[in-house]
Amino acid sequence: MKALVLAGGTGTRLRPFSYSMPKQLIPIANKPVLERVLENIRDLGVTEIAVIVGHHAKEIADALGDGSRLGVAITYIPQESPAGLAQCVTLARDFLGDDDFVMYLGDNMLPQGIAEAAAEFRALRPAAQIVVQQVADPRAFGVAEVDAGGVVERLVEKPPVPRSNLALIGVYFFTPVIHEAVDAIEPSARGELEITDAIQWLVSHGATVRAQEYAGYWKDTGKVEDVLECNQRLLDGMERRVEGDVDAESVLIGAVVVEPGARIRRSFVEGPAVIGAGTVLENSHVGPHTSIGRDCVLTGTHLDYSIALDGVTVSGVRGLHGSLLGRSAAVTGTTVAHRHHRLVVGDHTRVEVAA
Ligand code: TTP
Repeated sequence: MKALVLAGGTGTRLRPFSYSMPKQLIPIANKPVLERVLENIRDLGVTEIAVIVGHHAKEIADALGDGSRLGVAITYIPQESPAGLAQCVTLARDFLGDDDFVMYLGDNMLPQGIAEAAAEFRALRPAAQIVVQQVADPRAFGVAEVDAGGVVERLVEKPPVPRSNLALIGVYFFTPVIHEAVDAIEPSARGELEITDAIQWLVSHGATVRAQEYAGYWKDTGKVEDVLECNQRLLDGMERRVEGDVDAESVLIGAVVVEPGARIRRSFVEGPAVIGAGTVLENSHVGPHTSIGRDCVLTGTHLDYSIALDGVTVSGVRGLHGSLLGRSAAVTGTTVAHRHHRLVVGDHTRVEVAA
């Protein structure tokens, strides 16, 4: 079996981050989503992986290289514009050959892995196997109608009136018959070649498509709120590890990770939280559920339920909550007597200030 990982796309919902970096490299508990995706694939014993890349191709290749650090072999396949998940299968045709493959969306997090789904696919080997989960509001997802035996009867992309609450999540297993299906379908109303249409084509042509209900935690990290929730979830599973330098006036409570070279001075860190290598905290309160990247400087700051990427500076700001701070962003408090806010923010940035 081979793997096809989709790490192109526009990332509209994660602007402004997706302007300057691929969303798949946003760190969750200080490890990029895409790295966790590749680890899950490697854990199946699958090492030949093609990664579809869009306009952030270079940054992804710089981060993952040839994959050897993660024990896999990566082939990068450029996608000129994000024309749909099924188009990615077409682009990878030569790489995939006549092998079965797992297709994995590069912004989807399944921390418990996909071993069970892969075992079911390998044992029953239907034409295709999708992975589904019950969701409260299926209207934003591809939705599967499944019989009592787990066989898919119908798939509909974002139905206004869903007939099932089983949403397709970002992992699919295919036999080579999928290539016939992606060649047969036409672009959808939004101009994309939809993988749900290709799988529905298989169903309509009498092929067996099975659905496996995924019991573990799953999150599509396409929005800031989801990134933060996923960060919380992963931090909850962490164990305390203090390798940095913590002075006697600081207090660390619970599952706190302090990476080597980090310095904590007169501060309070409430776990679960991770403080990246080379970061300095002074007179600050960090956590719970907070990930601070490398080489950040936080002074006189209170920050919880948040993520700060590498090189962030925050000084003199208390009460930061639910925040995602991009690389080398600076947030500064003011001591000026007049109550005012000064903002220098880029396109599609969201800022909430107390009125
Ligand atoms: P989506 O999150 O559905 O699409 P997107 O990245 O364009 O995001 P948004 O809706 O916020 O604009 O894509 C799921 C994954 O598949 C993601 O990792 C990007 C990737 N992808 C491709 O590689 N090529 C494509 O043509 C599309 C549509 C997505």
